[in-house]
Amino acid sequence: MEKERLVRVFDRQAAKYESNKESSNLTKWRRALLSQAEGEVLELAVGAGANFPYYPPDVNITAADFSKEMLAAARKKAANYHIQAKWVCADIEKLEFEPDSFDTIVSTLSFCCYENPLEMLKKVQCWCKPDGKILLFEHGKSSNIFVSGAQRVLNPLLYKMIGCHQTRDILNLVHESGLAVQRAESHWLNMFHMIWASPEKGFSCQKNR
Ligand SMILES: C[S@@+](CC[C@H](N)C(=O)[O-])C[C@H]1O[C@@H](n2cnc3c(N)ncnc32)[C@H](O)[C@@H]1O
Repeated sequence: MEKERLVRVFDRQAAKYESNKESSNLTKWRRALLSQAEGEVLELAVGAGANFPYYPPDVNITAADFSKEMLAAARKKAANYHIQAKWVCADIEKLEFEPDSFDTIVSTLSFCCYENPLEMLKKVQCWCKPDGKILLFEHGKSSNIFVSGAQRVLNPLLYKMIGCHQTRDILNLVHESGLAVQRAESHWLNMFHMIWASPEKGFSCQKNR
């Protein structure tokens, strides 16, 4: 889908994301991941700020998203949690930050959206300090063949409607990207993955451009 159209798809969903009451499992997973964030944090595709309640109080957040409506919702949520973030309204796949800019890079439920998720994982490793943290909570293809069959069939429709691919093999993408994974957990028929990682040892931004 063209990027402008994808932005509109997410703009239209901002109110729904803003009022969404998440399940206790999602809350638990977000808390477990976000409690590990520290220092200068980049949150990719912040959406309506669903992670803001779970950050430790002393982090400095840069929040990026290409949807103005999502960012407007995220700003409201940030104010509720006394978070002073830097806001970046841009296509993250086109963004450039200096290498080693962040202590922590967070993505929750965003790798379903990118045109080139593998390239994005390389960018993340470049922007993160070598001893920094990369915290991911992502959804993708189930390991259950009946569920993954349904995901494959529904994928074109769901991508058009909500902008998310359902069939990404997240663990394989992470493996291919070379990320150094310290801990990983999979849930709900292996559709949801939590990953605590760092950039690959000796990762070179130049080689991966
Ligand atoms: C499924 S939502 C997840 C939002 C939030 N991270 C969460 O956990 O609730 C995906 C978000 O990614 C944003 N997004 C998708 N592709 C993007 C891109 N290329 N650049 C910037 N933001 C993007 C959308 O606008 C949307 O806010």
